[in-house]
Amino acid sequence: MEQKYNRVLMLSDVHLCHINWFGMPNEKRLEKMTEELKEEYKKNPYDMILFLGDYSLDFWGWNEGGSYLQNEPVSNTANIIRRFFSQLPVPYFMLPGNHEQYAPQTWKAITGFDRFYAVEYGNYVFLMLDNFSGNLGPTEHSDGTYTPTDVAYVRSVMAAHPGKKFFLCAHDFYFKDQETDAFRELMKDPDILMLFAGHTHQSCVIQMGSEFGSKCIARSGNYAYSHADYAQEATWGWREIQFNDDRKMIRTRYLMPPATYKTNKGATTVSHDWIHSDEIELFYE
Ligand SMILES: [Fe+2]
Repeated sequence: MEQKYNRVLMLSDVHLCHINWFGMPNEKRLEKMTEELKEEYKKNPYDMILFLGDYSLDFWGWNEGGSYLQNEPVSNTANIIRRFFSQLPVPYFMLPGNHEQYAPQTWKAITGFDRFYAVEYGNYVFLMLDNFSGNLGPTEHSDGTYTPTDVAYVRSVMAAHPGKKFFLCAHDFYFKDQETDAFRELMKDPDILMLFAGHTHQSCVIQMGSEFGSKCIARSGNYAYSHADYAQEATWGWREIQFNDDRKMIRTRYLMPPATYKTNKGATTVSHDWIHSDEIELFYE
């Protein structure tokens, strides 16, 4: 029998949009997601959900632009909370993606959250970081501007929680070319276990290399449109993180519930049963 563990779910890039992608309409897709999350809770309860950004295309640099900068502004971030997240069976936490470039006070008014903060969870702390804070409250259509991880903030949270282990969560970490020496040093801290990101719609696990303390970043996939053209993208699902405090072990994998969806701009229909991928186990001292 499988051992009992605590678990947390993580989703990213769920994209309630003002345009319809080929395949399943937005509303239907998010209804499916919400129902599956409720079912999953009944089957095997989880403690909370962390969302890693891109709830919308409220700010968007392409085609007709983001829905929030139109003559009649639409916040699909507000809509997704009201219509879908409000039904979730557990507490949830949101950090902003590159399509949510709201000024901090607007973001807080819409979501109830700061743009960055920490979530305590037993022996662990999840740092919910804002790495696309370079162009907030824009008046022109754009896709967000990356800003390096706020290392001083991370260190201050770590100092305030002695004896805990930490996870860094952000919409993305451009660690290869846009992070600082201070970030490299931070990554060598053994109390940081690993990082989580979204953004690319993939579920992969990236080994950052010894320069970054040999840490890894697990991406949390998407529940957005499907793209057969980009074969490396995940299909709709979420990342689960299982915690086994006795063994000092965490396990994380990407889970995809049964789905039928159109790819290749609607030309191909794909079906699958439950599948999972990109699993890792991590032991710590
Ligand atoms: Fe996205």
